[in-house]
Amino acid sequence: MFVIASDHGGLELKEEIKKLLAERGIQVEDLGTNNGDSVDYPDFGQQVGRRVSEGSAEKGILVCGTGIGMSIVANKFPHVRAALATDVFMATMAKEHNNANILVLGGRVLETPVARQMVAAWLDTEFAGGRHQNRLDKIAALESELKLQ
Ligand code: RB5
Repeated sequence: MFVIASDHGGLELKEEIKKLLAERGIQVEDLGTNNGDSVDYPDFGQQVGRRVSEGSAEKGILVCGTGIGMSIVANKFPHVRAALATDVFMATMAKEHNNANILVLGGRVLETPVARQMVAAWLDTEFAGGRHQNRLDKIAALESELKLQ
């Protein structure tokens, strides 16, 4: 199960991403927002961050205007590795090197076809493990040290 959310700045792109996930047969729960009214991105980013953090969702996608606010919020949660990507290379690396469990996109930054390619790249790329796993282990150790988990 995937979870997805946006604010008003990411709503349009979120709807496009949902279509892509549906085409691929990926089940996704939309945690809002559901209309174009101005809302606060922390209210929606935290829902996705929480679900991925506690393990009730496997992966998440967040979209706001730039992606910046959503990535700041999501990365407050332990076990979350939220990656703000702006092109296909970054989306690919977000999985290959960082094993990002949340992909963050900017609805006011990306054209839909590129965003679709980015989500596809993130979904299709395998985590490389090895030295990259060591680095993720260091992040987990930091979370323990900071009492974030
Ligand atoms: C909303 O206007 C905008 O600030 C938000 O979508 C996002 O870009 C924040 O980082």
